[in-house]
Amino acid sequence: MRLLVCGGAGFIGSNFVRTRLRACDDEIVVLDKLTYAGRRENLQDLEGDPRFSFRQGAIEDPAAVAAATDGVDAVVNFAAETHVDRSISEPDAFVRTHALGTFVLLEAARERGLRYVQVSTDEVYGSILEGSFDESSPLAPSSPYSATKAGADLLVSSYHATFGLETLVCRGSNNYGPRQHPEKLIPLMVLNALAGDRLPVYGDGLNVRNWLYVEDFASGIGTVLDRGVAGEVYNVGGPDECANIVVVRRILELCRRDESLIDHVADRPGHDRRYSLGADKVSALGWAAATAFDEGLERTVAWYRDNAWWWEPIRSGAYRDYYLRQYGRELRS
Ligand code: NAD
Ligand code: DAU
Repeated sequence: MRLLVCGGAGFIGSNFVRTRLRACDDEIVVLDKLTYAGRRENLQDLEGDPRFSFRQGAIEDPAAVAAATDGVDAVVNFAAETHVDRSISEPDAFVRTHALGTFVLLEAARERGLRYVQVSTDEVYGSILEGSFDESSPLAPSSPYSATKAGADLLVSSYHATFGLETLVCRGSNNYGPRQHPEKLIPLMVLNALAGDRLPVYGDGLNVRNWLYVEDFASGIGTVLDRGVAGEVYNVGGPDECANIVVVRRILELCRRDESLIDHVADRPGHDRRYSLGADKVSALGWAAATAFDEGLERTVAWYRDNAWWWEPIRSGAYRDYYLRQYGRELRS
């Protein structure tokens, strides 16, 4: 199969491309705008593979999308603005990429009769204090990030109902692992702990997230692409839930730092208290998570410790300005 992977230079997309090239004989074209979150470094080990090619371009650009879809059988769309805090301070790009970008991709898929997988998130369901969401749970997003992702999901499903396009929506819980941008909780805390810097925990730190190792989400998306029923939504929930403060304490232990580095800072506006996602429907297709949180976190901390070449250019670049705006203090190198 020849696949177009949009947003394949990001954290999860690059992992999916790597896993897929290893596991089967697909050819893969990546289309990526290379925003602050997209990096050629994430794909550099694949550059010599004749089954892999890269195009820089935006999913909201019909010409770039038309050129990239030439000869492909299916589209998997990871391309998105993904950081909730940025969606609060600067929502514009979230609307453009999620609404307009998804529309442009769907039109290209419709013209060519392509199978289409939309990568989405548990955040579209909003917060849940007890139990877990399933695919029939109502959508109740809280942030401009999750609201625009929810809008994109609905648009995708409408292309199945209206035009008979082979669409699938795959909603994952919180991912973690190598190559995640340091703006996100786990890499931020790991890199600050390694630097001996303060660890900014929002509010009381008791918000709960449902953690999924990135390779497990990649295999879940592959399962849905290969075996999912057109028109359906599949939730890919992680095996473990954990309060943020517990995650942060474990990171401090793994980095051999003490808890005096923890800094309780102002809470995120509209902060969802708990996410929890089931995975029964995707499990029935034969998927299972392979990595428990304790093991995955240890592996992730080790990866950041050993791969300063990957994160140093981020921590010494424009991220410093973002950090100052977001946390009101300078990042220590
Ligand atoms: P990321 O921020 O690491 O990567 C996003 C990628 O999309 C980048 O390479 C960026 O350059 C590219 N991109 C952004 N706007 C684009 C545009 N307009 N056109 C083309 N490319 C564009 O994100 P991620 O964490 O890898 O998330 C990938 C997808 O998975 C997103 O759709 C996200 O909503 C979803 N998701 C993420 C998580 C998580 O915990 N990170 C969990 C569930 C679902
Ligand atoms: O649930 C899936 C979602 O997970 C994805 O759709 C998003 O793209 C991804 O960014 C992630 O969203 P979260 O908001 O859950 O992730 P984030 O890493 O930003 O925050 C995780 C938790 O940690 C959340 O409760 C907020 C808290 N937090 C985060 C940061 C950045 C802090 O306490 N301090 C921080 O500095």
